[in-house]
This record gives sequence, C-alpha cells and structure tokens, in this order.
Amino acid sequence: MTVDLAMELCGVRFATPVLSASGTFGYGLETAAVLDPADLGGVVTKGISPLPRKGNPPPRICETAAGMLNSIGLENPGVEWFADEKMPPLRAAGATVVANFFGDDPDEYVSCAAALDKIDGVAALELNISCPNVAHGGMQYGTDPRLAGRLVSACRAVTTKPLWAKLTPNVTDIVAVARACVEAGADALSLINTLSGIGINVRTRRPRLGNLFGGLSGPAIKPVALRMVHQVYAAGLGVPLVGIGGITTGEDALEFILAGASLVQVGTATFSEPTAMLRITDELRQWCRELGAERVGDLVGTLKV
Ligand SMILES: Cc1cc2nc3c(=O)[nH]c(=O)nc-3n(C[C@H](O)[C@H](O)[C@H](O)COP(=O)(O)O)c2cc1C
Repeated sequence: MTVDLAMELCGVRFATPVLSASGTFGYGLETAAVLDPADLGGVVTKGISPLPRKGNPPPRICETAAGMLNSIGLENPGVEWFADEKMPPLRAAGATVVANFFGDDPDEYVSCAAALDKIDGVAALELNISCPNVAHGGMQYGTDPRLAGRLVSACRAVTTKPLWAKLTPNVTDIVAVARACVEAGADALSLINTLSGIGINVRTRRPRLGNLFGGLSGPAIKPVALRMVHQVYAAGLGVPLVGIGGITTGEDALEFILAGASLVQVGTATFSEPTAMLRITDELRQWCRELGAERVGDLVGTLKV
C-alpha cells in the first residue's frame, strides 16, 4: 500500500510531515554529506535576529536523564548573512525552508519579519516567543497572551508569508496564549519550545550551564508536549499545529499527529543520530500502512478520548 505523506499547510506543500526543529539542525546544510535537506518535510532554521548575536557563555549544553539542557542564547550571524550565505544553497538544494526568528524587542521582531518576508525561497516564518535561555528570548511575550497577540499582529502586518507562532510550555494556560496568537493573525502554531530548567555539578557546586538556566528538551518532555498539542487542538482554534518535543521514533511522531499536529519537528534526537529524521519518516510511513491510512493527513486529530 502506498502512503501519501505530503501535507499542505497555509498554502505551502511539505513533502513529509517531518521537519527539523529550530536550533538543532543549523541552517539545514551542515549535515548535507549524510542528509539531503530536500528529503525532509522542511528545514526550520536556527533562530535568526536582525543583527548578529554572540549567545551565552559556555558550557551551553549538558545531558539529563532522557534529554538535554541547552543555553545557547540564540547565537546567530543575523538576517543579512542568512539571506546572502545560507539561502542560495538552500534554494539550490530544493529544501522547504521555514525561518525561525526573534528580536530583543518588538521593533527588532518586526524588522526581522519584514526582512525575511523579502527573501525568495523562505516558505514560512516561525515567530519564536518562547526561548527560556535569554533575558530577551521572547518568553516574556510567550507567557502573556496580551503581549503575544500584540507581537503576532505587529509581525503579521509586515509579511504576507505564512506566520507560525512558536509557543512556550512555561505557562499555566497554553490555550490562552494560543488563542491570542490566532486572533492576532497567526496562521499556525508550533508547540512546544523547551521547559526551563537547571543542572548542578555537586563536586564543584556550580551550575552545569554557564547561564545557570537552560531549556530542557528530548524524550523527557514528550508527554508535556503531547498534552499541550492535545489541549490546543481540542480548543478548536481553526489553525494547523506543528508538534515538537522529544520525538525520536515514527511512533512518537504519530502520537503527535493523532493528538492534532499536522506537522512535527525533530530536535534533540538529531544530536545522537544526525539522520534520525529520515528513519522517523520511514517509521511513520510504516505506521500509516499498519493503521490502513493512505494519507497521513487522514490521521490528524483522530485521537479517541
Ligand atoms: C541546542 C538547542 C537550540 C535551540 N535553539 C532554538 C532556537 O533558536 N529557536 C527556537 O525556537 N527553538 C530552539 N530550540 C528548541 C527546539 O526547536 C525544540 O522546540 C525543543 O528542543 C523541543 O524539541 P526536541 O525535544 O525534539 O529537541 C533549541 C533546542 C536545542 C536543544
């Protein structure tokens, strides 16, 4: 039985529902020797800001039980560099590119959205209002429905490309933030970013991360992410969802799809297995066959509760 894995989201066609998660796959070309970015549903870039940023002091990552903590601090060379250096090879490779972006303040967010809007080959924008590792990583917007809505609507005004808002799990009411983003014009919602956490080295009595605080990702966060995707899907906001959090197998991906995600992103799994997304895609195809689904899209939100 052939299975159609293609998904269309806000007018953009994704060859498969499996995309890279921002910040865990560079700009999609670093591992080109082992993984053709065109074989993925899409490449979600490392977070881009209007100007270059240095990021946080090292160490910036450490392992945890069933996951990792990171405090990269949104290091990146800026939007101009992205347009000049990274987009030409990504276009040539035929990759479907979603540009993840942020700013230090609302003006920076808006100027970055406006700059990305003009870049040929950027299929959609993912607005990061959810980084827990820096003072201005957007989480101050992502935890307040009113501020989140204002930021989405300001970015909405400067781009005609599909605008996805990426939500933080570090809230008590994910649906309130999701609703505010949709009412302000978000075309899709990505969830979740990392959970705020710290690690401690008991010998040195020092934090494991140079920044003290980091973001927890990997299999440990999957149940939280699934719960939030389910809650937002059940709220019936009328926009597609992109599920993220601890996806390591095709079965994990399918769990998110059943909970209501139209696409999924894979992050931490890529660190130990750079080609994990291809394996996950194959496993997902196999699961569709097993469930008798000719189109993966038919399974979206079919969780029986
Ligand atoms: C090292 C690292 C860097 C990240 N950088 C970003 C980023 O720049 N922008 C963003 O929106 N999310 C960023 N994230 C969050 C991931 O995109 C993803 O939401 C999170 O890791 C959960 O997925 P996972 O459990 O599959 O890793 C980063 C995660 C990691 C581990």
